[in-house]
Amino acid sequence: MIIYKSESEIQAIRRANQVVAKILSELAGMVRPGIATLELDRYAEKRTRELGALPAFKGYRGYPASLCTSLNEEIVHGIPSNRRLKEGDILSLDFGAILDGFYGDAAVTFPVGKITPAAGKLIAVAKESFFKGIEQAVPGKRIGDISAAVQAYVESQGFSVIRNFVGHGIGFSLHEEPQVPNFGLSGHGPKIKPGMVLAIEPMIAAGDWDVEILSDNWTAVTRDRSLSAHYEHTIAVTQDGPQILSSLNDTKGRTALKEPLHA
Ligand code: MF3
Ligand code: CO
Repeated sequence: MIIYKSESEIQAIRRANQVVAKILSELAGMVRPGIATLELDRYAEKRTRELGALPAFKGYRGYPASLCTSLNEEIVHGIPSNRRLKEGDILSLDFGAILDGFYGDAAVTFPVGKITPAAGKLIAVAKESFFKGIEQAVPGKRIGDISAAVQAYVESQGFSVIRNFVGHGIGFSLHEEPQVPNFGLSGHGPKIKPGMVLAIEPMIAAGDWDVEILSDNWTAVTRDRSLSAHYEHTIAVTQDGPQILSSLNDTKGRTALKEPLHA
């Protein structure tokens, strides 16, 4: 069942997502060679609590941390550890928070120091594919229009789209209906309506889309160990089109579609 949200509920979901956006922007300034991913996790959890929110991932299906830190060939659900970042790595940070019972979720991939042009292109394509997807998130279209737009763009750039993980409805819980795949057919799937709140989250790979789960039972890596990047925002569908809830607000309290936070 898809749960449509009222305007005031969307405001509350936006507030939860503003916590996520703030913390991701602070983490962005900490990502550098030498820092351990566990330090990023500790910081995220401490800041979340300072802001009156709770980490959404900790304890979710037994997930052991607040932040997901996925390095290089890791796609999603990388568990923070004492491993230190090194120059040339790419690091995906995925973070969720609960504020006043409402959920926020966003992710972004960062370069660690100087990275190869190929890795830079992968990060840029993951981000741009999100914008190809959100363009379709207008009343009257279908979820498959988002999926197909993401897939077409990513594949046109010579990369592949991960199929084992999908975006999702969000708001009263972390994962609600509908699923939002990053591949599929336009014209298919649930109709997009005002009041839908969705986490659109393309995960892409430089090589093949096959996934393997490591022995920690969480970390998803590309089977061919090619690099992977992730970009996610929580968005709301309104009569006037989509709004990003997990970019930092401008002075009018609205978010600009073309000016994402995580540049
Ligand atoms: N953004 C991811 C998702 O929507 C993060 C979930 S991590 C988990 O699935 F630990 F909560 F599973
Ligand atoms: Co998500």
